[in-house]
Amino acid sequence: MSTASERAAWLREQIARHNDAYFVRDAPLIPDADYDELVRELRRLEQADPSLVVPSSPSQTVGAAPDVAFKPIAHREAMLSLDNVFDESELRAWADRVSRALELDPESIAFCVEPKIDGLALSIHYDDGQLAWAATRGDGRTGEEVTANVRTVASVPTSLGALAGGLDVRGEVFLARDAFAELNRVQRERDEREFANPRNAAAGSLRQKNAAVTAERALSFLAYQVVDPANSLGVTSQGALLEKLGELGYLVAADARVVLGADAMVARSSWFQEHRHDLPFDVDGAVIKVDDFAQRARLGSTSRAPRWAIARKFPPEERTTRLVSIEVSIGRTGRATPYAVLEPVVVAGSTVSLATLHNADQVALKDVRPGDVVVVRKAGDVIPEVVGAVPDPSVARGEPWVFPSACPECGGPLVRLGEERDSYCVNPNCPAQLLQQVVHFASRGALDIEGLGEQRAAQLIEAGLVGDVADLFSLDTARLEQLEGLGAVSAAALVGAVERAKAQPLSRLLVALGIRHVGPVAARALATWFKAYAELAQAPLAELEVIDGVGPVIAASVFQFVRSPEVLERLARLERAGVTLVEPSSDELDQTLRGRAVVVTGTVPGFTRESAEAAIVARGGTSPGTVSAKTYCVVVGDAPGASKLTKARTLGVALVGATEFETLLETGAWRATIA
Ligand code: IVH
Repeated sequence: MSTASERAAWLREQIARHNDAYFVRDAPLIPDADYDELVRELRRLEQADPSLVVPSSPSQTVGAAPDVAFKPIAHREAMLSLDNVFDESELRAWADRVSRALELDPESIAFCVEPKIDGLALSIHYDDGQLAWAATRGDGRTGEEVTANVRTVASVPTSLGALAGGLDVRGEVFLARDAFAELNRVQRERDEREFANPRNAAAGSLRQKNAAVTAERALSFLAYQVVDPANSLGVTSQGALLEKLGELGYLVAADARVVLGADAMVARSSWFQEHRHDLPFDVDGAVIKVDDFAQRARLGSTSRAPRWAIARKFPPEERTTRLVSIEVSIGRTGRATPYAVLEPVVVAGSTVSLATLHNADQVALKDVRPGDVVVVRKAGDVIPEVVGAVPDPSVARGEPWVFPSACPECGGPLVRLGEERDSYCVNPNCPAQLLQQVVHFASRGALDIEGLGEQRAAQLIEAGLVGDVADLFSLDTARLEQLEGLGAVSAAALVGAVERAKAQPLSRLLVALGIRHVGPVAARALATWFKAYAELAQAPLAELEVIDGVGPVIAASVFQFVRSPEVLERLARLERAGVTLVEPSSDELDQTLRGRAVVVTGTVPGFTRESAEAAIVARGGTSPGTVSAKTYCVVVGDAPGASKLTKARTLGVALVGATEFETLLETGAWRATIA
């Protein structure tokens, strides 16, 4: 046997095993992206040598054979799968194939772009408008009957009114993210197994022998397709179909859009990628469909998937890799955080080689050990984390990891106090803590001292120039110039940056000091209330507690912090160095736009770009350069930017005329929007 055919056989076996785990047992063993990788490799082999294709190959089949625990049901028309593309260029290549087959310019074809919900496919059959049965996809031809379970799903109408003949409505059963969190909370409470993700939870909840269990779970159904041989619904395009399904009482994707041409189609699919975390459910891609049903008929399908639709899969947020070792890092409060050193792997578009393990309990709970293959997750802006180990019974595992009892940086004891989840290095002179304090003090959101990153801070500590953050203000150029890699120019720049930091407002200083639980929002609330550090340091606990944005936890933390002897000493030194300990007043303007993002496009009469922005900021708002779903409104001046207008319209962000700008500043509202 040649190696290629051996490899193909091995891949088929692996894929079959994972199909069973995913479709039948609702408990996948590996992330979807790793599965996709296996399928892609098999397809490459089959393309290079078509003799490797066998009828059972995943390139020829859909899903997995139905579970014998359920009654089999034959679908009236096969439930196909979708072919995948993984980036813009593959998506354009698909649009080109469609355009060639239809002999139409790609810019003249209408596409419907929908979210690809990560759930499970369902077909619901209606006879004369009445729900008759419902079945999962199964292997595409035969599904598993789940009628009683589906009847408990609130977003599935049981009657469509007076419609003659048979009709199937197809779509996705899923759990919204908050429903998933709630379900796992209940599972925890009952000491039952938690679900790994919303998709498994939805599949496990629908495929229940007892429909009463399904009824307890907040499943939703999103409709996107019909098999309607008699054309009872009388629609001829996907856009019209979604509208019709909405009218019939189905949930349809609110963000689905029909767009004209391949360019707009690619852009809309990227919109879903950008906003995937803003949607209330998990999506793993966008589905793009030729909108016109007559064009679809001309394109047809293969045995596995339609040619008129494609799934654009987003960069995976979970991958597997090998766990090399588990180390512990020491933060600025002395907290010891275990983290994983990994064989580098690309997750969500960036290379990950370190991932947090949170704390000792998490390591024990996940039971990950050096040498294991682990799942790494990186979602949105969240820092990468290790989800768990991928079991491999054929390999002997290493010993369970034991949390160290000594600080890896200073050798002092690591202690876990009372109910705390975390262990701390309690040596006040631990150099690792000092390093993190200095880095935090100088960071962007704090005093923003340019040129003082981790490396430079470590160098200053090492040279004995900094033993406390207050020492930063007595750095002198003559001494700095002697350090390696710091010439006269960079030494002067650093001293200059430190000098400028003295003038930062109190709110930033409060962030920089690293008071437990005090982030930028609480810091601003405290600074605006007290105006001067001296006032804050004298404030009784009760006064701290009444401030909007400062709860009892923050109040207690601040109260304790300002009284600590080290802090008193540090503050005295900061004051002597000339650090501003007050919050400049924003001219007592009402903070009408507090926390709101107002985008300005074009010129507002009476304002320059800068002064318009400054006016918004003075009212407590921000004025970012781009429109997003979080934008409060867009102020449209003379000669506005077309892309901002389009984006605002697509996202449903209010457009406000320039004549309303003063009103907006005064009141935080506007009288009328423009179209
Ligand atoms: S259309 C013949 N539209 O993705 C076309 N499928 O990977 C059938 N899916 O089997 C599918 N969202 O379970 C379509 N908006 C959407 C979808 C969607 C999720 C699922 C569906 C399908 C699978 C293919």
